[in-house]
Amino acid sequence: MTEVIKPTMMDYHRYILVCIGNKCTENGEGQNLYNELKIKLKAAGLDKGELRVKRNKVTCFGTCTSGPLLCVQPDGIWYYDINSAKLDRIIDEHFIQGKPVLEYIHHHNQG
Ligand code: FES
Repeated sequence: MTEVIKPTMMDYHRYILVCIGNKCTENGEGQNLYNELKIKLKAAGLDKGELRVKRNKVTCFGTCTSGPLLCVQPDGIWYYDINSAKLDRIIDEHFIQGKPVLEYIHHHNQG
């Protein structure tokens, strides 16, 4: 019988999902952004501590338009058409200062 082991994980303040699918972008921009995100979060000190941002990738959100697309929880905020410079702004203004970048948002779930 296989032993079931309870998974463990570090606490986090926000959770960001990046779509790496090939319907919302054409040339792997989502995967590139996901890779950059790791470096940028570490440089901003957000890979640990009280404001830690956990990142993960998904293959499709079902919206498939104008990627790269990001989803930030628990804020319920969805960003579209994100590039490296826009990601820098999201990290600084949203993740550090707590003020989402309104002009990059395509959906804010407040339910
Ligand atoms: S492939 Fe990115 S949302 Fe569908």
